[in-house]
Formats: sequence, C-alpha cells, structure tokens
Amino acid sequence: MRAAGQEDQRSGNNDNEDDENDDCARHRPFQGEQRNGGLLPDHRGRCIAPMEKVRERLDRPIVLVGLMGAGKSTVGKRLAARLDLPFVDTDTEIESAAGLTAAEIFEQYGEADFRDGERRVVARLMNGECKVIATGGGAFIDPRTRELLNNQAITIWLDAPVDVLVERTARRDTRPLLRHGDPKETLKQLAEQRRPAYAEAHIRIVTGNGAHGNVVDAILEQLEKHLSLD
Ligand code: S3P
Repeated sequence: MRAAGQEDQRSGNNDNEDDENDDCARHRPFQGEQRNGGLLPDHRGRCIAPMEKVRERLDRPIVLVGLMGAGKSTVGKRLAARLDLPFVDTDTEIESAAGLTAAEIFEQYGEADFRDGERRVVARLMNGECKVIATGGGAFIDPRTRELLNNQAITIWLDAPVDVLVERTARRDTRPLLRHGDPKETLKQLAEQRRPAYAEAHIRIVTGNGAHGNVVDAILEQLEKHLSLD
C-alpha cells in the first residue's frame, strides 16, 4: 500500500456542485488518448467511468479521515451515493449506541470514554462489507484504530486548510473540542499534532473551499489508481 504523500490529488475549486453528468458520461465512446471527464477504457475497449472500475474492484470499506470540518460526512454521503454503497458515520453510530450526543459523552464521561466507543464502533464496521465510512476527526489518531483501518480498509485523508476548517466548523456548535478557547488556535494545533497520523492514510486528497462534487471526483480518480495497483 502506498502512503498518502505518494497519491496526492488536488481537487478543483469549482463552484459547480452538480454530480448529475455521471450517467451520460459513462456511455460515451472512448477516443484514443483523449480523456473525457475522467473516462478510461475498460478491457473491452468500452468507455468506463472511474466509479465503475472502483465498484468492480472494491473489496473493502472506504474510510474518510481528517480534521473536523474537512467534509468527511458530506463528501462521504455523496461518494456512497455515486458508488451505490451504504454510508456510515462513526459519530452517529457512537451517539445512537450511547443515546447521547458526542458533546454530552465528552461532558458526562470524558474524552477517554468517547475514544473507547469510537474504537469499538470502528472495529465493528470492519466486517469486510463494502461501504463508505466517515470517521470522527480523532479516530485515526489512535494507533490501534489507524492500524486496523489501514489493514482492512482503504483510508482517504481529506486535507483542508485551517481557515476552511474554521469557517465550516463555526456553522454548528456541536463539537466538544471547539467549545472552549479559540477554535482557530485549537484547529491549528490539532492540524500540527495530527498531520503525521493522517499522512499514513493510503490516499490524500487536498481540498479547499470548493464544491464537494469535485472532491468526490478526485477521490474516485485516486481510488481507481489505487485499486489498479493492488
Ligand atoms: C473529534 C471530531 C468530531 C467528533 C468529536 C471529536 C476530534 O467529529 O468525533 O467531537 O477529535 O477531532 P468530526 O470530525 O466529524 O467533527
């Protein structure tokens, strides 16, 4: 497996959020070297979109990792829809198991208990079934969870600049780690501390403030490359 740095992919910063071209694009004929919308020739010379190649070869869950506000859940849902796979959010799983929000778990039981729950949820989800999983920002920092995910899934780091994370996370007051102190400072520190761990993901996608649809396209392209090298 290659480390993230070797599979960098910048997603564009277009503001068009539409994904609706997928269906017609995948039936267009492939023309020589010309690439159209990321289309690739399959073994019969037909035109085939990266998502079809990915679906054909995928045998493990796809796991999105990265800091709060990187877009893991939003991008994860769209990616799952494009690949026709189930989507799971680890925070939601922990919250429904506990009957409490993440913030309430942090307040009432402390971060260590939340991390235990997170580790158990991630382990349960590694049952071999193909799906898209969005993890909470701290899940991949736990060495055991990271090892498990890197061994049993394809891990994708959504790497967004701190300013973007600050702007996005400011929209909701649900994140316990950002409720005290200056959120920008906290996110900056977390970005520095966690970068080496996130960099162990199989694929790194550099994202900005652009459309989530473009991030999904970038992921599909990198997944296709990753799976063809396995
Ligand atoms: C956390 C990120 C949150 C949530 C919890 C802790 C973290 O998830 O798991 O508040 O340690 O970075 P998101 O990354 O989905 O916001």
